[in-house]
Amino acid sequence: MSEEDKIIRIAIDGPAGSGKSTIAQNLAEILQINYLNSGALYRIIGYYLDLKGINPKDLKSVERRLEEININIRNNQYFLNREDVTDLIKDSRIGDLASMYSQISLVRNKVNKIIKNISKDTSIVVDGRDIGTVVLPDSDIKIFLTASIEERAKRRWEEEKERNKNSSYQQILAEIKRRDSNDSNRSLAPLKPAKDAFIIDTTSLSIDQVLNKILNLLKEKKIYGD
Ligand code: DC
Repeated sequence: MSEEDKIIRIAIDGPAGSGKSTIAQNLAEILQINYLNSGALYRIIGYYLDLKGINPKDLKSVERRLEEININIRNNQYFLNREDVTDLIKDSRIGDLASMYSQISLVRNKVNKIIKNISKDTSIVVDGRDIGTVVLPDSDIKIFLTASIEERAKRRWEEEKERNKNSSYQQILAEIKRRDSNDSNRSLAPLKPAKDAFIIDTTSLSIDQVLNKILNLLKEKKIYGD
């Protein structure tokens, strides 16, 4: 993208295992714009608060500990107080912690501030649960990715095998069910498509097929391409 091009913001939301991070990252590469994984921000905070033994109900301690957290992102690597935690936070245990602590409004406010700050003067693809509905409701386009729960569990299971983790498919399926329920039923910024989101069911689509669908939408809306 040239300097004169207008800033574009793309929101990609969806449940765990819907493929949103892979799609968002690839899309950002194709468009040559930035990528931000908002789930990673919740994971970093969940990891840190758990490390410090913070009870999610103890809001005074949550507030104090949040002030100690400094997050930096360089070349898609995520740093917590200067430590590179990119790989560490991919663990499914940290995903559960993120899901639990993300129900606290102090936590959500901190994450939303970071996202808004990063995306204020740059073109970006942001993925998450509430980007199109709450964080960047003025995004140029909102995509909501879904897939059957079995397919999402299968994808996560394959990812874990690649990282030499030996959780069973059944374990991962149960975990995803729990996460869906937590993320969709919470009162603050629950997982749901924005009214003007394009919903894409990725169950039987390849990564390239999903990317092509999105690129076509971007062309149709004259956001990118001829
Ligand atoms: O996308 P992920 O699986 O890495 O996200 C981990 C958890 O963080 C997810 O279960 C709920 C929370 N989250 C959120 O509440 N809002 C977002 N925009 C992104 C993630």
